[in-house]
Amino acid sequence: MSESNAPRDRYAVIGNPIAHSKSPLIHARFAEQTGEPIEYTHLLAPVDGFVPHVRAFIEAGGRGMNVTVPFKLEAHALADTLSPRAAAAGAVNTLRFGADGIYGDNTDGVGLVSDIERNLGVSLKGARILLLGAGGAARGVVLPMLERLPHTLTIVNRTQAKAEELVAQFAGAAREAGCRLTGGGVRAIEPGAYDVIVNATAGSLDASLPDCDDRAFGAGTLAYDMMYGAQATIFMRHAQTFGARTADGLGMLVEQAAESFYVWRGVRPDGAPVLAALREMMRASAA
Ligand code: ATR
Repeated sequence: MSESNAPRDRYAVIGNPIAHSKSPLIHARFAEQTGEPIEYTHLLAPVDGFVPHVRAFIEAGGRGMNVTVPFKLEAHALADTLSPRAAAAGAVNTLRFGADGIYGDNTDGVGLVSDIERNLGVSLKGARILLLGAGGAARGVVLPMLERLPHTLTIVNRTQAKAEELVAQFAGAAREAGCRLTGGGVRAIEPGAYDVIVNATAGSLDASLPDCDDRAFGAGTLAYDMMYGAQATIFMRHAQTFGARTADGLGMLVEQAAESFYVWRGVRPDGAPVLAALREMMRASAA
């Protein structure tokens, strides 16, 4: 049998909706780049059909999955074992199937951190970080951020109590990292421009700007929106009026995929060329 006809290990991304997912394209590029013999498809599950679809995929020989909206909490509940970062996030975006059952991991936070540090060249060590939002997306990035040893992490949310809950949950990890972790409503924002501001709210979906303090933005600030699109988000455009550098979440998408690939294959692909290709494709299709 020639190499191209050899059976390939099967992976998929599961979600609803899923047709427009970029993950199959990203993982196909990673497979080419690394020579790993994998096949990666997308799988639409009905909103009440996550578990049977995962089980059927395992039965058919599937080796792992990425999990996206709205199934990350169900994936967390389904896993037999969890990585510490998935346990802290309370959500799973990566499943690995093996003799020891279903392993659940969460690579979203590491994806964000890798994009900021590796692709954008901004070190989080000693940085002052402002995290906007306290939902699932925000919770998933707190621990990976603390592991980079920032000076300060301020979590601000429209519903203040949810930010305070996150501060309480991660107080121990922050102490170990020597990081000042605070949060609440907009009044929790401290004087002076932040080095990094991450928008982890769902605000960009309906073009609304999360509550913030304009003084948090400065010329030395990286303003990062976890959302992405062909155009800059409203949060990015707002940050640009203060001279801040901006980034959207396309790089986070690529880097979380690279980390999932590593979890499955033990080989870490290079995200940068794949990110550049995706960016070019988005630019061309928007033109
Ligand atoms: P996700 O998994 O994407 O984080 P989520 O758990 O529903 O989704 O959380 C959505 C986050 O976006 C929350 O922090 C939410 O704020 P509340 O906790 O106050 O609801 C925030 N959010 C959504 N729409 C927003 C808006 N228009 N302005 C500010 N924050 C918004």
